[in-house]
Amino acid sequence: MKRTSLMIFLFLLVSCASYRPSYRTVPMAPGESVEEHFKTGKKYMITTQGRHSSRAGEKMMELGGNAIDAFAAISFAISVERPQSTGIGGGGFLLYWKPGMDEPIALDFREKAPLKGHKNMFLDKSGKEVPRKSLDGIFAGGTPGLVAGVIEAHARYGKLPLHTVIQPAIDLAEKGFEVYPGLAKALAYKKSALAQFPASKKIFFKDGDVLKEGDKLVQKDLAKTLRTIQNRGKNGFYKGWVAKAIVREEKRRGGLITQDDLDKYNVIQRRAVGGSYKDYNVFSMSPPSSGGIHVIQILNTVEPLNLGHYGIQDWRTIHYTASAMQQAFADRAKYLGDMDFVKVPIRELTSKAYAKKIREKIPSDRALKKEEVLPGKFAGYESPETTHFTIMDSEGHVVSTTQTINGYFGSSLVIPGTGILLNNEMDDFATKVGAKNLFGAVGGENNLVEAEKRPLSSMSPTIVLKNKRPVIAVGSPSGTRILTCVAQTLLNYLEHKEPLLNSVSSVRYHQQWYPDELRIGTFGLQRETELKLKEMGHKLTHKNLGCRVQAIAFEEGTLIGVSDPRGQGMASGK
Ligand code: DON
Repeated sequence: MKRTSLMIFLFLLVSCASYRPSYRTVPMAPGESVEEHFKTGKKYMITTQGRHSSRAGEKMMELGGNAIDAFAAISFAISVERPQSTGIGGGGFLLYWKPGMDEPIALDFREKAPLKGHKNMFLDKSGKEVPRKSLDGIFAGGTPGLVAGVIEAHARYGKLPLHTVIQPAIDLAEKGFEVYPGLAKALAYKKSALAQFPASKKIFFKDGDVLKEGDKLVQKDLAKTLRTIQNRGKNGFYKGWVAKAIVREEKRRGGLITQDDLDKYNVIQRRAVGGSYKDYNVFSMSPPSSGGIHVIQILNTVEPLNLGHYGIQDWRTIHYTASAMQQAFADRAKYLGDMDFVKVPIRELTSKAYAKKIREKIPSDRALKKEEVLPGKFAGYESPETTHFTIMDSEGHVVSTTQTINGYFGSSLVIPGTGILLNNEMDDFATKVGAKNLFGAVGGENNLVEAEKRPLSSMSPTIVLKNKRPVIAVGSPSGTRILTCVAQTLLNYLEHKEPLLNSVSSVRYHQQWYPDELRIGTFGLQRETELKLKEMGHKLTHKNLGCRVQAIAFEEGTLIGVSDPRGQGMASGK
């Protein structure tokens, strides 16, 4: 109760617009309001990065559907509402928990490298990377998994007909909606890449320029494709005219994806990675995401330090947490990849013993230089878009899902006639050992392209339980920053006992080993803290981390939803 009343107090405080420049001020995105981003409810709660999508989920709940019906409706609707972030030409991960399960199930519907893909596909004859080949156009796309994943989850756990859950997305695509500030910004940013492809121009341009804020975005071809999926299920995408259109475009542009790739696409149910933080059980996404492993590794590293004694903004909290992040990224570069192809030492990386070794190497009075941080050694081990949304209901069903086409508008290429934007997830592979991806993360041997392999991800849909009851579920977009934003939100809430709104809106920081910098979000730290960290050798930079955390907590019978105020979004509940 204490935390709920604090939330309400904070809510009142911010709605009274007492915008003192302190970390307690909510960093609201233009055009957004605290009222829409923060809700409490008793029956269900939904937090997404799109108003129309949250409403689509709400509608399913009102029709008597469950959390998975809402998941399916939102997945399709957000594909329409946030074409810069996700889409049916992409992929994602789902963590789902319902009472009676031993642990959440993890569904992997990540894109796959084409059968003809190989480790040199982004290099020229002399072995140099071909600029932007993994980012723009036909080679950037992996075989999409989103439609297969959403339909599989819905078939297993949904209550409402597929027809019903897809309808809101079809309506949204057909009738269109007003371009909001975040979409306008992304369009302006990717204008020249989109302009290369006539089918992309047809949708996102008007009178020779990209659509602007307030213009209407209508996606008729996408509506047609969605209607085909509505009638034919998964086959509406992977077979028939939509598949033919994909294969035709691949062939015309010399791409690698064939009908064989579409036929062989498979959703995989994986075991979620699990760990504990004090009394809580933390579950998150397993490889091919690095996210879950490193969220747990970071939490393990700082757990015995009881940073809650110091508070979120204290230099000790930031120093130890950032150092834990730095080590996590050194391990990520060496060990992480698709575990169907390479051995990932999950047990070791998420063990308390390894966390102890890391902790003992962090000096109390100075930052470690990147050269001092080396990946751990394990003896013979065992085997700026994206979107996240979270759903919880009072019966204890929890959905935490992150979905993506990778960069803004993925590869920028729309498959003619379908409205489908092809992802550029191939850039999440290491184009060669030591090469950096879009997010500056260093790639290693384990993450080189191979036929049918899934590229390494940082997406970290996470669910925390205590005594088999949901406590908090979170996730975020923003590349490598995802896992550090998720870890911090969990620490803010579980360790520092901050109310959820504050846990989400507080200043964030990120350290990813290479580059050697401690990146502080634009909502800055207190000056004294910054000075102290600099003095210790942390190389501070100031740049928005890009995370848009979508969180829901369950506190004594009340569902609390927070959609990160830094971006578009909406919490809706009852
Ligand atoms: O899977 C990953 O980690 C990336 N493809 C996610 C990309 C992303 O979050 C971009 N967001 N700003």
